[in-house]
Amino acid sequence: MKKVLVVGGGGRCHAIVDALSRSPQVEKIYCAPGNAGIGLQAENVPIKDTDVPALKQFALDNAIDLTVVGPEASLSRGIVDEFRAAGLKIFGHTKAATRIESSKEFAKEIMVKYDVPTSGYRSFSAYEEAIAYVSARPFPAVLKYDGLAAGKGVVIAETLEEADAALKDMLLDAKFGEGKVVVEDFLTGPEFSFMAFVCGNKVWPMPLSQDHKRAFDGDKGPNTGGMGAYTGLPFINDEDVEYALKEVLQKTADGMVAEGCPLSGVLYGGLMKTPQGVKVIEFNARFGDPETEVVLPLLKSDIFDIFNGIAEKAVEEKKCCCCCSEGNGECKIAPEWEEKVTMGVVLASKGYPGDYKKGAEILGTEEVDAKIYHMGTKLEDGKLLTAGGRVMMVVCSGEDIHAAQKKVYGEIAKIKCDNLFYRNDIAHWALDK
Ligand code: AMP
Ligand code: GLY
Repeated sequence: MKKVLVVGGGGRCHAIVDALSRSPQVEKIYCAPGNAGIGLQAENVPIKDTDVPALKQFALDNAIDLTVVGPEASLSRGIVDEFRAAGLKIFGHTKAATRIESSKEFAKEIMVKYDVPTSGYRSFSAYEEAIAYVSARPFPAVLKYDGLAAGKGVVIAETLEEADAALKDMLLDAKFGEGKVVVEDFLTGPEFSFMAFVCGNKVWPMPLSQDHKRAFDGDKGPNTGGMGAYTGLPFINDEDVEYALKEVLQKTADGMVAEGCPLSGVLYGGLMKTPQGVKVIEFNARFGDPETEVVLPLLKSDIFDIFNGIAEKAVEEKKCCCCCSEGNGECKIAPEWEEKVTMGVVLASKGYPGDYKKGAEILGTEEVDAKIYHMGTKLEDGKLLTAGGRVMMVVCSGEDIHAAQKKVYGEIAKIKCDNLFYRNDIAHWALDK
């Protein structure tokens, strides 16, 4: 029986912990730092997800068999490299491989070099050159800060004034730190998320999903960390999926091997179906949030085998299994997925993503017949309280998206809290079809 440490604490980590808790091989799950909901399924450990030395010491002291990393901030600090150097098994990419997310310029260079479909781009470190280039091109202008900026480093500028303000922030005032700016061609079309487990050249795709970034119904209001997601996208056909798997995920995995920094975790393709075909908008080096909360409930296979198999294979090629030439026919990495679809709706504190109050009591969750993934909650004197902007995500499955939608909103109605709001139109792109 295995002891697993999950690094992270939001809804995505709750979904990972939930999937691990279904494994008959896992006897104990720790989560650092975890949250109130995760604490019902795992033991929360009060260590920050970026405190790599303390996490490593915890794994050594507690004879952890496998560590699974949620957030990119831990990956880009080199948690995987440090754990491996200490002889600890860990699922996630090395610091060098995480550049596929942490540097927009690196990701673009890989895509151009290995012929992965994406928008044209140029990168700049000097404000004067950037503004001259942008002024001479059509609007909107897509400006991306070349580094991690907590989701705030992308500006779609409709006018020269907006572009100028963003470039000044990024290049003159170094609002997110010193860094370059990538200026991209503006693409149009529906966006979708395609995640895969990847180890070296081997890619195991997950079901497609779609995030809803705006705060309010009708895709109005400010951008958020995600207000809901669903699987089963009617506007993406099998041909698109096959194309995206071969031309995007596989070519990127192969490119990273050729560059000497193979992937060994989750590759997240943020893709767009443009009139010219599927193209990459961004890559992430980790599970997406809130996509993971709707995708992992569909996994029928034992997720421990997948995480563990990739963690082992990544460090010791001899252990590699039927999926490559030296295989011994015992590959345990074989994700199988339910045929159903899922839908998840985020309940957020009123005011989010701006200022909001914390500490409102949440009642009725025990009546709910759905998965509830906690994002920002707190247990105090036996009461469940709001403790963040995004508070929880309620996820239901169904035979089709209409069934999942009916179920999820029916279950949400049982939750009583006077300081929460949610979108009523999650999956509208699929329901309108
Ligand atoms: P990113 O963080 O790179 O995913 O960008 C955030 C959002 O900006 C995406 O989800 C898109 O909606 C939008 N976006 C990014 N790049 C482009 C592009 N080249 N063309 C159109 N929209 C884009
Ligand atoms: N849902 C987008 C992300 O995880 O970055």
